[in-house]
Amino acid sequence: MKIIDEEKLNEIRTSVDIVDIIGSYLPLAPKGKNFFGVCPFHDDKNPSMSVSREKQIYTCFSCGATGNVFKFVMDYENISFLEAVKIIADASGIVLDITNHKSNFEVKYHDLYEMYNISKKFYQNNINTESGKKAKEYLAKRNINDEIIHKFEIGYALKEHDLLYKMFQKKGFETRDMLNSGLINKNDYGYNDLFYNRIMFPLYNLNGQVVGYSGRIFDNDDTAKYVNTKETVIFKKGELLYNYHRAKEAVKKTKSVIVMEGFMDVIRASSIGLDNVVASMGTAITKNQALLLKKLAPTIILCFDGDQAGLKATIACMNELVNIGVIPQIIRLKDNLDPDEFISKYGKDAFLEILDNPTNMIDFKIECLKNDKNLNNSSELANYVNEIIGELNKINDDVLKEITLKKISNETGLELDFLKSKITKRKSKTLVKKTNLVKRNKYMKAESYLLYYMLQNKEVIKKYERQITYMPTDRYRYLAREIDSFYHNYQTINVADLISYLGNNQMLIDTVGEIISLELKDDCSLEEIDDYIKTIREYNVNYECDRLTKMMNKEMDSEKKALIAKQIIELKMKEWENDK
Ligand code: CTP
Ligand code: MN
Repeated sequence: MKIIDEEKLNEIRTSVDIVDIIGSYLPLAPKGKNFFGVCPFHDDKNPSMSVSREKQIYTCFSCGATGNVFKFVMDYENISFLEAVKIIADASGIVLDITNHKSNFEVKYHDLYEMYNISKKFYQNNINTESGKKAKEYLAKRNINDEIIHKFEIGYALKEHDLLYKMFQKKGFETRDMLNSGLINKNDYGYNDLFYNRIMFPLYNLNGQVVGYSGRIFDNDDTAKYVNTKETVIFKKGELLYNYHRAKEAVKKTKSVIVMEGFMDVIRASSIGLDNVVASMGTAITKNQALLLKKLAPTIILCFDGDQAGLKATIACMNELVNIGVIPQIIRLKDNLDPDEFISKYGKDAFLEILDNPTNMIDFKIECLKNDKNLNNSSELANYVNEIIGELNKINDDVLKEITLKKISNETGLELDFLKSKITKRKSKTLVKKTNLVKRNKYMKAESYLLYYMLQNKEVIKKYERQITYMPTDRYRYLAREIDSFYHNYQTINVADLISYLGNNQMLIDTVGEIISLELKDDCSLEEIDDYIKTIREYNVNYECDRLTKMMNKEMDSEKKALIAKQIIELKMKEWENDK
């Protein structure tokens, strides 16, 4: 079932200019016919994403990301196609009613999401009962009031062992799904709730749906402080950041995001009015999470726990960010405190002041490097300078490099020019990648060139229809078919709308990107097109002849052998006639 028909989709798409929309997410600079920006979909350091006003599409020459305006918003915001369409429609004032739409993923795992919704309400109810009183007292002691409890949907799992299980049973959920959800366990005696007598903190996916829990003990300390739901199909810790969906809103104003270790720290930060905060939840930051942070805000401030473990986590996170071209700001809290403890001990204003004065990552690294060295000792001094140069060689910010080298020059007395000579010039990644894209033989070249012009000119599509039977390379053949069917539906060809038409066929969208990136000359004579077609046919004839020859060689019956030989000759003759 189509939720929105293609014409409406195209109307929405043409109501905006892709350059304006992408330009509202990241800086774009004009260059020739196109605009260029740093690609948000891979660890890009140089602007390798090109945005075409004329074609209304973007392509990254480095990672191959391609799409129209919908695809960009969808991938950038991590939302469904329809949500992206809605955002664009809203921006243009086009009315679109798709609020009740659910993605395929949501439909497929509907029961899991439902179990989390039900359990969330259940736990939330419990916290306001007599039994939940103690949990609330504990939270109050930690300065978490009703408003915050409500905002973060904090709940309480009662002391009984199978209340949730019974409730799920009554609602008719499958036992298998219950176990899959991570909320119910099986042991020798039967089925049990994973959580009992714990304060329940819902963990959300990027859209703000509850997909897991962390349950905290509060009235004894003889078991683990936190118990967490296991990873499931809908809950992948390395792909989430706690509070991402709320921070995304807040970041629009602050333009910066603060990263903490624990969700308790995030909740506490919210109680003093900071909402642009996310948490990594105790595990090392993954590349995936680093990319999320990069997309979230231009400034990233790391504010991990003040202890040694927090220092380690800071350095690990910093390195993960540098790898994707981001230079974070660093805050180190004194007395081994975590942000929550710091706020409780020194108050809101002291914390806000610290936030206003983060250390640049390079300065922070320099301080760390200095820590365990005696700089009066020449070899230790040399080590120190070499390590700083090493760090500078990892980043791409020329101004920051220059500033740092000046400082080091002043500090050590080494000539600035000498230090500069130790900085390696970075090769442009774009150029390296582009040349070793796909190695094309003569036939693939013909196919891809033909596709390139099919995307531009309906006359070429008509020629393809009349003369080509089969493109040998699978992805090219599928794309050619889609182009052809698009043309039949709309009597025109347009890359941006074709991308909507391809829906979530990522393989074909990538192929469109691959073809567009060929950047062939604008016009191509129909004779040239004929040549490509001839080449493709030649391949098919050769292929068929090969097949028949093999068959002939295996054939024992001489009459049948002759028949095949005749077929081969006919094929060759036909091709020869065509060539004339
Ligand atoms: N964590 C966990 N299991 C533990 C300890 C920690 O899953 N036994 C995770 C939690 O997601 C927590 C994060 O690691 O949010 C940070 O741990 P920690 O700093 O110990 O927690 P705090 O945020 O300080 O929590 P609290 O103040 O309640 O002790
Ligand atoms: Mn804490």
